[in-house]
Amino acid sequence: MTAPAPWWRDAVVYQVYVRSFADEMGADGIGDLPGITSRLPYLRDLGVDALWITPFYTSPQKDHGYDVADYTDVDPLFGSLTDADALLETAHGLGLRVIVDLVPNHTSDQHVWFQAALAAAPGSPERARYLFREGRGTDGSEPPNNWLSIFGGPAWTQVPDGSWYLHLFDTSQPDLDWRNPEVGDMFEGVLRFWLDRGVDGFRVDVAHGLYKEASLRDQVRPEPTPDKAGKTGKAGKARKKKPKAAESMVERVLKDEPMWDQPEVHDVYRRWRKVLDSYPGERMAVAEAWTQTAESMALFIRPDELHQAFNFGWLGTPWKAKDFAEVVTNSIAAVGAADSAPTWVLSNHDVIRHPTRYGGGPVGLARGRAATLAMLALPGSAYLYQGEELGLEQVDVPPEARQDPSWFRTGEPGRDGCRVPLPWSGSAPPYGFGGPDSSEGSQPWIPQPSDWAGLTVEAQQGDDASSLAFYRRALAARREVFAGADETTEASALGKLLVVRRAGVTVLVNTSKYPKALPDGDVLISSGPIIDGLLPRDTAAWIR
Ligand code: BGC
Repeated sequence: MTAPAPWWRDAVVYQVYVRSFADEMGADGIGDLPGITSRLPYLRDLGVDALWITPFYTSPQKDHGYDVADYTDVDPLFGSLTDADALLETAHGLGLRVIVDLVPNHTSDQHVWFQAALAAAPGSPERARYLFREGRGTDGSEPPNNWLSIFGGPAWTQVPDGSWYLHLFDTSQPDLDWRNPEVGDMFEGVLRFWLDRGVDGFRVDVAHGLYKEASLRDQVRPEPTPDKAGKTGKAGKARKKKPKAAESMVERVLKDEPMWDQPEVHDVYRRWRKVLDSYPGERMAVAEAWTQTAESMALFIRPDELHQAFNFGWLGTPWKAKDFAEVVTNSIAAVGAADSAPTWVLSNHDVIRHPTRYGGGPVGLARGRAATLAMLALPGSAYLYQGEELGLEQVDVPPEARQDPSWFRTGEPGRDGCRVPLPWSGSAPPYGFGGPDSSEGSQPWIPQPSDWAGLTVEAQQGDDASSLAFYRRALAARREVFAGADETTEASALGKLLVVRRAGVTVLVNTSKYPKALPDGDVLISSGPIIDGLLPRDTAAWIR
């Protein structure tokens, strides 16, 4: 008899962005751990298997917790270790698993290690835990190399004694030097600390970033493309004339990335896998790894490394049957080689919410539901982002309310628009975010739109046509139809119709402008009404 598959292999995991889920402590407008605990029955009723909670550790909150000052304590904004224990206990009591975020690429500049590094001299062991280097130019006033921060601007900041330190994100997030064994030892301690408290797994932030090419050489970057042909003379014209085939060849050449995806990173995950396996109860880890090829992604989930990696291909697919089919086929093939199962995700705290990406309004919402229904039929696990079950769209946060560090570094709107606190009840902000009695309480840390009254959990609860009702139905149908089902899956595009076949079920997604005929069989569930026996545009259905 074969052992049942581990829980994570086909789990539905609900991402909780802690600041924006529910505010129970003092109604300060910021979500917290007791807020999550109080709403766990809501998640159980929704029908998810697990929750992933974004960082709630001690942090100056420059990147809302992804800048950790103490990995083994809870920030007072979010509660205490006792609150974390209570959350774990309540979740487990309700049959829900809990995954916590681990941020190993960088610490906060307020971490004791970085404070000690600043106080110590260049070349000291304290500085050797980070990537401090001397600058270039005769007086060292140029950064040590040409790397750029993901949040915009140079990836180096100079300290008063003239040295520079590397930060691939904000200046307040110095990168650790994983070539220093002290760093690996510290993180093994952090893993064990949370495993001992009972967490079921970790979401590994920037999992592809820990090691940098040892030389810290310059990145080779193509010259910026001129805005207008002719602006740069002949070169601009020549580029304009390049044949299409040649263009796509050029695009296929991998980018030079000496700061990402170095081979040494895999030793870290082999070590972590041993730690995870030494605990009872199928503890797991899922990598947030942005690699350039599906093959390099698969390396992270070899049997002796991490269990899963986010598959951002599904999230990045435009509303086209052919592209969806390709992503399904390629994702399954890539993870199959590593004997793992794929993951699927449409939204998270870093990207524009998917109904908005799909065009917004009723069309965006219909497409969002259809893509969700297709995703829930695929083998592997599905990650949902809080608020998608309410049909929330990206919010245009006014500039004065924006808090994303990338907004401050680039002037681009940033990620605040997908992080607006959830509407629970009532008809005006804060929509019960601070609990049922909070209608006149503190406003949330990002203002909520004034037209969200119809989107609250309370408003959608009893409405069969609501997003919330659809998600509940879809998650129940997934359990009923696909629990333990064969993972073999075929995906193709019949014109603009996505056709996925798995376990005797045909999943259709109509990405065309016209209704499509349905094959014979029972419609198990659809993402919108079936009209005159036809599958309307922007609609998905499971048929058996
Ligand atoms: C997280 C982001 C965070 C960054 C730096 C990411 O990939 O998802 O929210 O800003 O890592 O830690």
